[in-house]
Amino acid sequence: FSPERPLLRIQRYFCRKPVRFFSLILLYLTAGSLVFLHSGFVGDSGPRARGGRDSVVASEAGGRASSSDTRGLGIMSRVFKETRRTGRRFGPRWMRKRRNAKDVDDGRAKYIGCYVDDTQKRALRGVSFFDYKKMTVFRCQDNCAERGYMYAGLEFGAECFCGHKIQAPNASESECNMECKGERSNTCGGANRLSIYRLELSQESARRYGSAIFKGCFHRPDNVTAALPFSAVIQNMSVDKCVDMCTEREKSLAALAGERCYCGFPTPLFSLHELEDEDMCLYRCPGEEFESCGNDNFFVVYQTQVQDNRCMDRRFLSARTKQLVALASFPGAGNTWARHLIELATGFYTGSYYFDGSLYNKGFKGERDHWRSGRTICIKTHESGKKEIEAFDSSILMIRNPYKALMAEFNRKYGGHVGFASQAHWKGKEWPEFVKNYAPWWASHTLDWLTYGKNVHVVHFEELKRDLFSHLKGMVQFLGLKVSEDRLLCVEGQKDGNFKRSGLRKLEYDPYTPDMRANIDELIRTVDSALKKRNMSGVPAEYMPR
Ligand SMILES: *[C@@H]1O[C@H](CO)[C@@H](O)[C@H](O)[C@H]1NC(C)=O
Ligand SMILES: *[C@@H]1O[C@H](CO)[C@@H](O)[C@H](O)[C@H]1NC(C)=O
Ligand SMILES: *[C@@H]1O[C@H](CO)[C@@H](O)[C@H](O)[C@H]1NC(C)=O
Ligand SMILES: *[C@@H]1O[C@H](CO)[C@@H](O)[C@H](O)[C@H]1NC(C)=O
Repeated sequence: FSPERPLLRIQRYFCRKPVRFFSLILLYLTAGSLVFLHSGFVGDSGPRARGGRDSVVASEAGGRASSSDTRGLGIMSRVFKETRRTGRRFGPRWMRKRRNAKDVDDGRAKYIGCYVDDTQKRALRGVSFFDYKKMTVFRCQDNCAERGYMYAGLEFGAECFCGHKIQAPNASESECNMECKGERSNTCGGANRLSIYRLELSQESARRYGSAIFKGCFHRPDNVTAALPFSAVIQNMSVDKCVDMCTEREKSLAALAGERCYCGFPTPLFSLHELEDEDMCLYRCPGEEFESCGNDNFFVVYQTQVQDNRCMDRRFLSARTKQLVALASFPGAGNTWARHLIELATGFYTGSYYFDGSLYNKGFKGERDHWRSGRTICIKTHESGKKEIEAFDSSILMIRNPYKALMAEFNRKYGGHVGFASQAHWKGKEWPEFVKNYAPWWASHTLDWLTYGKNVHVVHFEELKRDLFSHLKGMVQFLGLKVSEDRLLCVEGQKDGNFKRSGLRKLEYDPYTPDMRANIDELIRTVDSALKKRNMSGVPAEYMPR
C-alpha cells in the first residue's frame, strides 16, 4: 500500500471534473483555514502546500496509535468518498431534525440526544476519528465543524463521528453513560450509543452541504433567461443533480426550480441580495424525499465549486501613483481580509508598509514592493505615529470591536495567521499582559489616524461583514475607481473560505476580566465620541457596554 496512491486516484478523479482538486482538498481538510486566492497560488505552491496538508491530516488523526501518513491519507480518502456519496444530499436548514432534548446550548453546538449506533450501519456517516486518551466534546465538535458537517457524535468515551444527517433512531438518555476520556465531567456516548450535537456554525462559516454552499431561497429573477442562461429539466431532480449539471457547465450558481435546474453567475439581474423566507422554497425534490427543490417562482440556490473568474485577475497600477493611500488598522482588525477584498474588487494589488513572506506566497504580490513604489492601490499599515500617518495622502481606516481584535491578534501572535493560541497562553500571564499593552493602543491608533490622517474613510469591520457589497463599493469609490457590480458580486461569492479561522473554534470561556472590561469599555467610549465629533457615525452598537 503506497500512501501516494489514494491521493493520485482522487486527483485523477477530480481532474475529469471541471473543479479544482486543490480547492476541494483545501476546502475539506482545512475548512477555511488555508488560503487559495487565485489560480497562481495553486501553481506557485502546490507541492509545498501538499506537504503541509498531509501533516495537518496526520496530526488530526493522531491519538489513535500511530499518526502515520498512511492513516492520514486513509482519512482523507474517506472524506472524499463520503462527500461524493452522501455529501450534497442534505437540504438546507428546514430539513434538519428539530428536537428539543436536554438543551445544552452554548451558542456553538446544541445537544440533541442519545442515539443508537451500529458498527455495520453508522448513524453518522461522515469522517470519524478516535482518541482513547484525550477525547473531549469540544474537540469532536470542532473537528466536525471545520469540515462543514452539521452533526458531531461521541461514542465509547473516545470516538468522534461527523455527519450531515442522523440515520438511526434515538435511544434513552440513560444509555449514553460513558464519560469522555479527556474530560471527566462530560458524557461521550456509550456502548453503541452516540451523544449527538447539532453544530451551530457561526454566520461567517458558510452552511455547506458537501461541496456546494447553500445560499438561500430567492425569488425568480425578472428575466430568467438573461439572469441564468443555462437551464434544463432534470428527471428525478435533486440538489446533487442540479449542482453536478452546473458544475459541468462551469457555472458558480445552481438554482433549483422544481424540475428545472438553472446555472449562471451572480449578476445585477440575480444578485442574491434579496433573501426570501426559506419556507417559500419548501417543495420536495422529485428525486429526493428529504430535499427542497423550490418551484417556478422560488429558487433554491447553491454555490458550486466552480470558481467565478470575473474578479480573479490582478495587476499592478500601470502608471505609478503619487497618491499614497493607507489601509490602516490595528492588528487583528481584518486588514488581510480587507486587502483580499480590495484586490478582488479593484483588480489591483495592495501593498504593505511591512514585508510578510507568507502573505506574498499566498498571492499578495504587492507585499514585496516598497510601500512607496506607487504600484499598489493602497498600503497596509498598523503604524500610528504622527510622522508615519502624515506620509499618506489619504487612508481607509478599518476599525474592529476591540474585544474581537485583541483576541484575534493574540491568536495570531501565539498561533500564526490561521492558528490559535493555546489554553496555556490564555490562562497564563501572557493574556493579561497583552491586554494591558494592546487595549490602549487600539484606542490611540484610531484617535491618531483621525487626528493626523488627511482624508480618512472609516470602515467598520463588522459593517463590512454585514453588508459587504455596499461597504466594499464605498471603498472602491474612495480609491477613485469605477465600480463594477459584476466584480463586486463575484467578490461576494468568494468572501468565504479564506482567512477566517474556523467558525466554531472559540474559547470555552470569556477571557476578559471585569477590570479589563471596564478599561476597554472606557476606550470604546473615547473612540466613539472622537468619531462623532468628526461627524462620522460612532462605533457599531454592538461594541458598546451593555
Ligand atoms: C426519543 O425521543 C422522543 C422525543 O424526544 C422521546 O419521547 C422518546 O422517549 C425517545 N426514545 C427513547 C427510546 O428514549
Ligand atoms: C431577456 O434578456 C434577453 C437577453 O438580454 C433579451 O433578449 C430578452 O428580450 C429579455 N426578455 C425580456 C422579457 O425582457
Ligand atoms: C427516476 O425515478 C424512477 C422511479 O424511481 C426510475 O424508475 C427512473 O429510472 C428514474 N429516472 C432517472 C433518469 O433517473
Ligand atoms: C455635521 O453634520 C451636520 C448635519 O449633518 C451639519 O449641519 C454640520 O455642519 C456638520 N459639521 C461638520 C463639521 O461637518
